[in-house]
Amino acid sequence: MSVNLTPRLSAAASLVRGGGIIADIGTDHGYLPVYLVQTGRVKGAIAADIGRMPLQNAAKAIEHYGMTDKISLRLSDGLCKFTPDDAQEFVFAGMGGTLIAEKLSETPWIKNKDLHFVFQPQSRAEDLRKFLFENGFCINKEIATHEGRRLYIAFDAVYTGETREFTYADCFIGELPRCEDAFKHLTHQVSRLREKHDAYMKCGRCDEAQELFETIKKIEGFIND
Ligand SMILES: C[S@@+](CC[C@H](N)C(=O)[O-])C[C@H]1O[C@@H](n2cnc3c(N)ncnc32)[C@H](O)[C@@H]1O
Repeated sequence: MSVNLTPRLSAAASLVRGGGIIADIGTDHGYLPVYLVQTGRVKGAIAADIGRMPLQNAAKAIEHYGMTDKISLRLSDGLCKFTPDDAQEFVFAGMGGTLIAEKLSETPWIKNKDLHFVFQPQSRAEDLRKFLFENGFCINKEIATHEGRRLYIAFDAVYTGETREFTYADCFIGELPRCEDAFKHLTHQVSRLREKHDAYMKCGRCDEAQELFETIKKIEGFIND
């Protein structure tokens, strides 16, 4: 019996390079590591979560699919119970971008050119991209997809040590492809930014409003280019 991933998790899985060990941080049901081991993409996996209940969910799936010799469980807040020798790839899927950035910022050893990171931020991807840009990471590829009416993005990154100049708009656009799902995702971000812009205008925070206005124009430029 094989695990079928939804488009959201499939997008994250497709960014995994494979061949080694992956750590799935915030695994919950454990489907991603089960899928990656089952399909032979990785040799083994560590399914990690901050909660005991999610780890129990993962344990059930791992047992159900007969993967107990290839996938281990780990109770960990972010990467705090990991070392860079534990895995070559680290996946963070289904958590907010702000939380992922916070967990990365607590872990100095992530600045290692041999490690590969896959992210599927559920919200505020701009906070995660900002962290990556400021800390010498390069985003390789982004994918936009949908499940019903819900839009999702996923991307992978490596540490290069080179910091780049970037605008706030770059934190929204990243390396998104020019496809319908990406445009819809960005259109949604623009409406969020418009609301914030209007709120700043109402309370007289004109400089911040102007900055947001410029960001909105740049994102709209990408959509309409
Ligand atoms: C929405 S689920 C995502 C499950 C799966 N990765 C997916 O994408 O379908 C988020 C999971 O992240 C876990 N989580 C939240 N904060 C965490 C942290 N600081 N460290 C590790 N796991 C965390 C939660 O317990 C939960 O199981």
